[in-house]
Amino acid sequence: MEDSYISFDRENKVFHLHNKKISYLLKIEDNNVLNHLYFGKAIKHYSGNKSYPRRYRGFSGNVPGNPERGYSKDTLPQEYSSHGSMDYRIPASIIRRENGSNIHDLRYFDYKIEPGKPNLKGLPQSYVEADDEASTLIVTLKDRFQEIYIDMYYTIYHDRAVITRSVKVNNKTDQAIALEKIASMQLDLTNNGVYDQVVSLPGAHMHERQINREDINSGIRSFQSRRGESSHQMNSFIALANHDTSEFAGPAIGLNFVYSGNHDFELEKDQIDQLRVLVGINPYNFSWNLDPGETFQTPEVIMVYSDNGFNDMSNTYHHLLRERVARGGYKLKQRPIVINNWEATFFDFTDEKIEKIVDEAANLGIEMFVLDDGWFGHRNTDNSSLGDWFEYKHKLLKGLKGMSDYVHQKGMKFGLWFEPEMISVDSKLYREHPDYLMQEPNREPSPSRDQFVLDMGRQEVRQNVEKQMTKLLDSVDIDYVKWDMNRNMSDVYSLALNKHNQGEASHRYILGVYELMDHLTTKYKNILWEGCSGGGGRFDAGLLYYMPQSWTSDNTDAVERMKIQYGTSLAYPISSMTAHVSAVPNQQTGRVTPLKTRGDVAMSGVLGYELDLTKLTADEKSEIKRQVSQYKKVRQLVQYGDYIRLKSPFESNIASWMFVNTEKTDVLMFVGRILSSGQPVFHEIFLKGLNPEYQYQDVDTGKTYYGDELMNLGIYIPDFNGDFQSKIYHFKKI
Ligand code: GLA
Repeated sequence: MEDSYISFDRENKVFHLHNKKISYLLKIEDNNVLNHLYFGKAIKHYSGNKSYPRRYRGFSGNVPGNPERGYSKDTLPQEYSSHGSMDYRIPASIIRRENGSNIHDLRYFDYKIEPGKPNLKGLPQSYVEADDEASTLIVTLKDRFQEIYIDMYYTIYHDRAVITRSVKVNNKTDQAIALEKIASMQLDLTNNGVYDQVVSLPGAHMHERQINREDINSGIRSFQSRRGESSHQMNSFIALANHDTSEFAGPAIGLNFVYSGNHDFELEKDQIDQLRVLVGINPYNFSWNLDPGETFQTPEVIMVYSDNGFNDMSNTYHHLLRERVARGGYKLKQRPIVINNWEATFFDFTDEKIEKIVDEAANLGIEMFVLDDGWFGHRNTDNSSLGDWFEYKHKLLKGLKGMSDYVHQKGMKFGLWFEPEMISVDSKLYREHPDYLMQEPNREPSPSRDQFVLDMGRQEVRQNVEKQMTKLLDSVDIDYVKWDMNRNMSDVYSLALNKHNQGEASHRYILGVYELMDHLTTKYKNILWEGCSGGGGRFDAGLLYYMPQSWTSDNTDAVERMKIQYGTSLAYPISSMTAHVSAVPNQQTGRVTPLKTRGDVAMSGVLGYELDLTKLTADEKSEIKRQVSQYKKVRQLVQYGDYIRLKSPFESNIASWMFVNTEKTDVLMFVGRILSSGQPVFHEIFLKGLNPEYQYQDVDTGKTYYGDELMNLGIYIPDFNGDFQSKIYHFKKI
């Protein structure tokens, strides 16, 4: 059945997904080959007159059943490709059958249109709250000779420039098949001069999501993770753009993979400069056995289109991810201002020391205390006790309950750190269950931070961790949990799997983690859950489904944070980015920045503190008090307003961004200057997204400006004195 957002033109055999912003067109070509026609700005109606040209190209052979020389799968833009049928570009799927063959030829088989969005069982995903928010097209492809079916899901949100994609394989043969590669989506673009660049978010631990923009050249380029998580090194997001696309103009297609494991974004510019893009689980070290009658559902990709540059693309992601991916009690709630003891004490704390920090925090107006690593087992350094999620009695003499009570009596909330997926050899858990550690028997596994990964693909392992965590969460009043993961996977081998199924181990691990997260975050809905992996090693849309915020980076240096947060904002909302003010010289960089700048940068995310408050001078205390009270006034705007990048710290000495509410009456703008100079240039900033007719008042100076003045004339940034300076402007409509 068709609906008003998805139509099927029977004459031209064209499916059209459309709303006021975007259109997506696919066509059943001759011999049922499924052709990609278009993804971009909305078109009212496709009349059927722009068909892909036919032309004979040497060595690009033809479609079985149709020997026409000009018709080749090697050049035709398609919706989903297979291996082995004369398409030499990178295939979306490689499926091996029992006879050893991996030759398949996928053809259109059937379609269905459904209201709403189907649930992808066991996976994180975007969702709808009512069926009239979205419509879904399911197009089924089938191999020409085998009963192997691929259902391709396309969901269009009615009011957003968003299409989500995933596929489900259905083995209706009477033999097992092995999925060696199964991308979640393919996007074949013609050589029309539009998408000639790609933006990715590479990085490293303490250096996450640096913006990288490059030309797309002939051949294959891949952006991937092989580390068992979405990774610090290459985030699970890319954007396609034109070389002219800017923050405010030009086309951009964002591809955000809702998955926290090994991912692969592959790009191939082919022999006639057309582009194929694939996104999916990384086929590296992956293979999935599918018995007769079984299905395999891939994770989803959220595709966003913008014809107004990157800011508009980011804005679409920010809204969708916080409104229709994040869940739980804190999804749209203001997030509390945290004091975390990690950089203040590391492992070296006592009840008494913590109580002193809590006392100070309460005086400063901070709202939650988070006890980080070191409260469990007998953990005094990072080489023991992971897996032992019971309190370390010799360290916390009053116990966790005593600490939680103390914090609550001070009118604050209490949070606790866990690292549920890990095991130390020096732990009770290891002594009792050495086999829980993921490794191949009789081979010494590789250590990292002196710790090892639990095989979360095994139910008994998950249950053990769940039981321990539940016991604590049920007996101590805990308002927040930080879920950390401090190493990457190696020795990927599971005792739960036989020798033919070992290729499933890393995906099963992720599915296991998702299941455990689902149990805990749905049972304890009112806890604020924060993801973390050595900072931002698992900062992805998958995690966001379970935890509405994540520790952005272990790097708390204000200057480096400008870039990390700016890069992160390309794909993720501000409400998901936690940002803490820490002590100077900074622990990671040794840099000394003003407390004001540290506050301004952290206030541009979900603000918190991570330093020993008992060591502050009176001036520092009053500055923090001021920051806390300022943040409380602007927190709704920062966390849930529209965020606009104005000046990139990747391109100059200046960083600037702003927040504006939907009514355009409340505006916050950050400007930071990194290095000073003897003869500084007079930089101007031009605000965006205001109402040109409104008159705005600078809350600090009382000066007034019309919206069009702030946007067109702009303002000069302050004549800062010294390195690493910043200012936050607050304008309100009068
Ligand atoms: C990771 C986190 C830090 C801290 C430490 C504790 O590195 O990112 O914030 O929790 O672990 O070991």
